[in-house]
This record gives sequence, C-alpha cells and structure tokens, in this order.
Amino acid sequence: MADKSAKLRINDQDYELPILSPTQGPDVLDIRKLYGQADVFTYDPGFTSTASCDSTITFIDGDKGELWYRGYPIEQLASQSNYLEVCYLLLYGELPTTAQMEDFRTRVTRHTMVHEQMHNFFRGFRRDAHPMATMVGVVGAMSAFYHDSTDIGDSWQREVASIRLIAKLPTIAAMAYKYSIGQPFVYPDNELDYASNFLNMCFSVPAEKYKVDPALARAMDRIFTLHADHEQNASTSTVRLAGSSGANPFACIAAGIACLWGPAHGGANQACLEMLREIGTVDRIPEFIARAKDKEDPFRLMGFGHRVYKNFDPRAKVMKESADEVLDLLGVGDNPTLQVAKELERIALEDEYFVSKKLYPNVDFYSGIILEAMGFPTSMFTPIFALSRTVGWIAQWKEMIGDPQNKIGRPRQLYVGSDKRDYVDFSKR
Ligand code: CMC
Repeated sequence: MADKSAKLRINDQDYELPILSPTQGPDVLDIRKLYGQADVFTYDPGFTSTASCDSTITFIDGDKGELWYRGYPIEQLASQSNYLEVCYLLLYGELPTTAQMEDFRTRVTRHTMVHEQMHNFFRGFRRDAHPMATMVGVVGAMSAFYHDSTDIGDSWQREVASIRLIAKLPTIAAMAYKYSIGQPFVYPDNELDYASNFLNMCFSVPAEKYKVDPALARAMDRIFTLHADHEQNASTSTVRLAGSSGANPFACIAAGIACLWGPAHGGANQACLEMLREIGTVDRIPEFIARAKDKEDPFRLMGFGHRVYKNFDPRAKVMKESADEVLDLLGVGDNPTLQVAKELERIALEDEYFVSKKLYPNVDFYSGIILEAMGFPTSMFTPIFALSRTVGWIAQWKEMIGDPQNKIGRPRQLYVGSDKRDYVDFSKR
C-alpha cells in the first residue's frame, strides 16, 4: 500500500499519484490509473524511468555497483556457492537445505538428455549456422517435444518445464557447438556436476578420453553464476512480455534467447573479444578510444557501459579476477588479448569522456577472454550467456505467472504519423 503520494497538475486539474516504496531502491510513482483519470499517457522509450513489474528476485544498486540474488551479494555467491544452488535460490527464494539441494540436483540431472528425435531437428540446420540461431530454433521447438509441460495454468507443469529448461539448455548449447564443428553429439554424463558436464559435452570426442579440469569447471560454474539473473533487462523483459500473453515457457525462453543475441546485450561478449583482437596491440588502443568518442563514428567500446551500473559492474570485478586465475592456470597469463583488455580498461577509466559518462567495464568485458582460453570459439560466448541466464528468465516468468495481478503487457504510444486520409487509386498517384 502506498503511504505517500505525488500531485500532477495538467491544465489546472490536480491528480494524485500514489508513491510505492520498495524494500530497496528509489520510490516508484504509480501511474496505473492516470490514463483513466486524466486521459494522458506517459512517454518513456527504452523504459529509462519505468518499472514494469514488482519483483522479489534480483536487486541492483547501480550507483554503489551492487548486485544481489534474493538479497545475497553476487560476490559471496560467486566465491562460496555454486550455480545449481544459485538456481535453487533464484527459483524458490531461499538457500536450500542439504536434502532440498540433493533433491533439486537429482531432478535437474534426470532431465539432462533431450528427446532423441531432436537430433534430427538439429541436422536440419546448416553447419555454418550461428549456435544462437540454432538455439533460438531448438529451444522454441521444445514445445513441440514436451507437450506435457506447456500448460501454464498447471503449477506442476510449470515446475517440470522449469527443470527441463535448466537441465537441457547446456545439452542444447553443446549440441549446437558440436554440430557447427562437424563432431558427433556427446550425451550428458550424470556423474558429472553441471559445469563439468557442459565442458565434457563440448570438448570430449568418442575417439579419446577427456578429463574435465576441476579448476576450469569451477571457473565455468562461476561464469554461469555471474550471468544467472539481472532483474528487468531486455531479454528478461522480453520473456515476461511473451509470457504475459499466456505463451508456453519454451516459446518464452526462445524469445529471450533471440533478444539476448543483440550486440548491445548478450552479444556484447562475442563483439568485445572480436574488438580486442582487432585492436591487437596496446599501441593501437588510443585509435580505438578516439573512435569510441567520435560522435560521427558508430563504433562503441564493447563490454563498456551499462544502463543501470553507473559505478562499476560487480560481475566484471569477479570476472577480471577469474580471468587472471584461469589464464595463469592454463599457463597463458601473458595472453596478448588480456594485456590489451587491461590496458584499454586503464586508459578508458582515466579518460574524461568515459569518466563523465560513467562508463565502466561490464560483465562482457573479461568473460570472453576466459571462454577463449578454455577453448570456446567466439560464436559460443552468447550461447553460454543464454544457458546461464535461463534460470533467471524462468524465475522471473514463474513469478509473473504466479502473480494474481498479471496482465498482458501492452504499452501505448505517442502517435506521430499521418492524419486520417482517403485511399487513392493507382491511376491517381
Ligand atoms: N562506448 C562509447 N560510448 C558509449 C558507450 C560505449 N560502450 N556506451 C555508452 N556510450 C555513450 C553514448 O554514446 C551516450 O553518449 P551521449 O550521452 O553523448 O549521447 C552515453 O554514453 C549514454 O549511452 P546510451 O546508449 O544512452 O546508454 P544506454 O543505457 O542506452 O546503453 C549500453 C547501455 C550497455 C547499451 C551501452 O553502454 C552500450 O552500447 N555498450 C556497449 C555494448 C555492451 O557492452 N553491452 C553489454 C551490456 S552488459 C551485459 C548485458 O546487458 O547483456
């Protein structure tokens, strides 16, 4: 309930707008009744000042550079928890007991295989398809394979769909990769933990034994954890909007994957590594900084800037430490791309343009360097982001479906098109 309100005056008429107070973050003006009372809309392209829902899942303080999942700071979860436990936390709201964790682990593990007929579905794609293109198609097609978990009105079916998505996304991402390089699909191995199983499905081949390095599995798990949720970002809002019409969860997550692919969002990790490679050597950095500052040049420093973080992205901090650890572990600590990244960060953070616009490295700045060192091609970076974010999308989708106030999402517009006019026949145009 609102205990504060604001007054809005339009043409000498006052309107009272309730102010809602969150548990954290700035107050929110409730404008839901404004159109009905005052016959005006609000205008906010890009939702820069608009809260689209209430949520209990993730909180970001962009000024302090803080990110919490269900109240727990990301740094603690990245260092003390693991991805599957984080999945439980995001989905159910609390850290699990040992028995709850075991039960959850078993449920996820039992769903890692995909329907055998899906293998044929994969084979319909061109080999050179981007793995994100394949994933959008295959995840969307899950609703054609798992009919028994598409009824969104049934809480048990929602639960099964959630577990299926978390369990099968690594399998699907790994299959997309294997298909793109012409290698046979590798079935999931339920003896392995979530991250090790993913690495095994990506890098093992039938011809020889492959042993997952536990340190790399740990780094992989941390990457999953850092990407698991991020409140109402573009892809999550896409999932919520798709879900608000009653679409099934597989269709909604496919929509989220499509949105994530763009270079301003999850596609930035691929674009960032390609940019760092293009820069190549430290001496070329000033040229690229100058381009990023040039209003006539569409070039932007990829992996830099964020709509919400105006201090630093706490995920980038953890990712940078992880990059140092992984590259040292692999004996490539002097990796030239890492050197370019560090120097680029140093120079940009001293530059008036980036300082005044509060542009800092984001999660995508260092993740690609770790993934490349692990052996992933750049085209797999965004699929890895997608599989990590799936749990966040599902948690947000479930929260929305379970909310009795849930309505179809339907923004209004500021129409600036032509006035009403009569159709003109071809002969008279
Ligand atoms: N390089 C150079 N200038 C930039 C950059 C950048 N990376 N990012 C923002 N700016 C400038 C921009 O030109 C604008 O300048 P001005 O006020 O003079 O017009 C100002 O900073 C504000 O930028 P904006 O585009 O209005 O900010 P936004 O909140 O709409 O966009 C962003 C946020 C993340 C899309 C943007 O910073 C960007 O394009 N960054 C590069 C892509 C990237 O790394 N994306 C990953 C985001 S984090 C992970 C994820 O969401 O998936």
